Amino acid sequence: MNYPIISPSLLSADFNHLGNDIEMLNQSEADWLHLDIMDGVFVPNISFGFPIISHVKKLAKKPLDVHLMIVEPDRYIAQFKKAGADYLTVHYEACKHLHRTVQAIKSEGMKAGVSLNPHTPVAVLEDILGDLDLVLLMSVNPGFGGQKYIENTYKKIAQLKEMAAQYNPDLIIEVDGGVDAGNAQKLVETGANALVAGSFVFGSDNPTETISKLKNLRF
Ligand code: DX5
Ligand code: ZN
Repeated sequence: MNYPIISPSLLSADFNHLGNDIEMLNQSEADWLHLDIMDGVFVPNISFGFPIISHVKKLAKKPLDVHLMIVEPDRYIAQFKKAGADYLTVHYEACKHLHRTVQAIKSEGMKAGVSLNPHTPVAVLEDILGDLDLVLLMSVNPGFGGQKYIENTYKKIAQLKEMAAQYNPDLIIEVDGGVDAGNAQKLVETGANALVAGSFVFGSDNPTETISKLKNLRF
């Protein structure tokens, strides 16, 4: 994989013409499609569910990076696989038995990710890091697109990179929230190897070009 992985978030896409945006992503330098699933309980917002994911899967030529902001994700792991998830990321704060959840995701044949809210220290992942394919660091409070990047995330990326060197050198360190031209380069230099971007991509005049800028870190 050619880093950084770029995963545009469909939360900011045009849902009246979603097919057009997916086709744009197919033709672009985007590596994955990021899908934000919100239940109105874990986060104060509701997004979309299985029917939309299945429709995206039919058109997308790239892996689906599904970010669950829901309580009790274990109940739905098989359904997310069926809908087309390739990477399935759950929140540390939403799982009582995280090890069991991660094994269940992998036994369905998906790559397993764990996400941390801005207030959760990366150290809590020490004993599970070796089992993970991906850690998603939230650089805003989850629930909404278009929020301001939280600066403390750099410190967490650096700490996680150090932990990964010891426990899981292949770990994908993904950052989600407020990623734009002003921080992408520094995020990658600090150790992020996957960037999620919603409003920066879909709010720009030329999303294809914005994705290319992120991929090549040329602004
Ligand atoms: C927020 C979501 C993000 C969101 C990012 O809860 O997890 O994926 O779409 O949007 P931007 O890039 O606009 O901050
Ligand atoms: Zn997300």
